Formats: sequence, C-alpha cells, structure tokens
Amino acid sequence: MAVRRLHPDQPAGFAFTSENLAWVNATISKYPQGKQASAVIPVLWRAQEQIGGWITEPAIRVVADLLGMAHIRVLEIATFYTMFQLAPIGSKAHVQVCGTTPCMLRGSKDLIKVCKKRIAEDPFHLSDDGAFSWEEVECLGSCANAPMVQIGADTYEDLTPASFDALLDGFAQGMPPKPGSQIGRTASCPEGGPTTLSDPSLFDGSRVGQWQKRLEHGSGGSAPAAPATPVAPSTPPAASAPPASATPIEGSKPFVHPAALAAMANAGIVKELEDRGSAGGKPIPAGELASLAQLARVKGPAAFGAKPDDNDGVKG
Ligand code: FES
Repeated sequence: MAVRRLHPDQPAGFAFTSENLAWVNATISKYPQGKQASAVIPVLWRAQEQIGGWITEPAIRVVADLLGMAHIRVLEIATFYTMFQLAPIGSKAHVQVCGTTPCMLRGSKDLIKVCKKRIAEDPFHLSDDGAFSWEEVECLGSCANAPMVQIGADTYEDLTPASFDALLDGFAQGMPPKPGSQIGRTASCPEGGPTTLSDPSLFDGSRVGQWQKRLEHGSGGSAPAAPATPVAPSTPPAASAPPASATPIEGSKPFVHPAALAAMANAGIVKELEDRGSAGGKPIPAGELASLAQLARVKGPAAFGAKPDDNDGVKG
C-alpha cells in the first residue's frame, strides 16, 4: 500500500455550499453534546463529494473547525482511510485494486497490470484523458469473491484481466456493469451452486425441530433426560482395559455414559440417530454409533462418578 500524503498542489481555501452546510449541521446535531467529533467521517465524505472525489488540506481544516477538533486529528483520519482520496482522481473512475493475500493469490497482480497498461504506470496518476486513476488498497471485505476492485461505492468481484478490461470499457462509455460478482454468482455462494446442506431432510421438516417436540412437556413427548448427579471423580482405569460393565453386549445398543447420554438426549441426538433409518435418512452404521460412546467406554463410568446401574435403559 502506498504512503498516503496530501497532494503537493492545494487550492487556496474551501467552504461548504449552503446546501451541504445545512446537511453537515443536521448530521452533527445527531450526536450528543460534546461528541460532535463522531461526525467526522460523514462530514469529510461530504467535503470529498463536493470537491469532486478528493480531500484538500483546506477542507480538512474547515471540517476540524466545524467539529471542534485539532487539525491534526482530522488529517490523521483523512490519511488513514482509503475511502478518502488525497489527490485528484479520474473523472470517470478511480479504481481501487485489492492487493491483500486472497486477492493476490487469485490474480490481483494481473489486474494491476491492466491498470498500468490502460491508466498509468504509477498509482494516483491520471490517465492521459483524465478519466481514470488507480491505486492498490488493502482488503475490501470481498475476499470470497477475489480478485476484486472497488470503484466509487461499488465493488466488482470474481474478475479476470479480460472481464476487468471490459469493466473499464463500460466506465469509459458511461455504461458501468452491474456491481458484484462478474461471473453471476449470488453474493458469495459457491460457483456452480450449493455444495453443502443439500440433504432435503434438513428442510422438509422431518429432522429440524423434531427434537424440541419430543422434549415438550405435556405434548406426548418424553421429558428430557436428567443429567447425571456429579460425585467425586475416582481414578480412571487404564485405557486398554475398559470395565466389564462398559463392554457392549452382543446385539444390544452400545454403552454410553449417563452424562453423555443425558447431553445427547437433551440435544435430541440419540433418538435422532435411532430414527434415521425409519425416517428415510441415511441409517447410521452400528460402528459409528458405538464410536460416539468411545470416550465413555475407554474411561469407564467410574471416572465420571456414575453408579453401576446408571446405564439402565441404555443397553437394552
Ligand atoms: S483480500 Fe481482497 S477483498 Fe479481502
């Protein structure tokens, strides 16, 4: 990113038009007494719009005086944010090319080559006809659709050198293209359509919301499982020797620690897994269900303070 300094050629002064001054005063009045400085960004922006796309040193002084701020404070803001330009910009477009890592990895350097070829070799220089200027900026928040540029208040994303060339042609002819992705995707959706959350049972009501119904009192559903009563933990047995009581019985459901079961029941997981086959979803393999209880089996119920009969209703 370039060093941001005030342009060497500055006008003699600056004054808001009466219309803009009325807008500025109305904007400042939105802030509580003593907090007028909070209006600095919109007031500076209005000054930039009036000047024609850049902020001059006299305008910085006027804005600071209006807000009761030290001149240096407003200078700091104007030179920090790339939304403020410090030199005259192209009459048709000032192109801000994002050069931060995601955009760089996706080809922002090729976009900068287009800028150098079509506009000017160096940033902040006007094109020969004065219509364009460009600069490289840091991340503009459209990383998922990299590489991208911002022109004015709009962003143009998913660019290639060819589509960027066409974009500049559009601005040159006064017919800029629609902002956003230039390959037609909506927002930051994956190219080619959704790739996740595509299981219809997520949206047809057969899964989502069912667990709340089961836990509702007085509506035919069962009450939520009570969490296990915590007692002082004891030393867990070696991982290689799970207790006999934790060994799954052939043909039965695998052992699940009561505390884990309570948590799973509260989240609707156990019944959910059992119901998957009959609900038309993918049946969960027996081994997968067993693996859910692996931690409890390895450590054993005593490690969690469970009593021997805490697993009633789990094995059978
Ligand atoms: S890195 Fe380019 S928009 Fe974020």
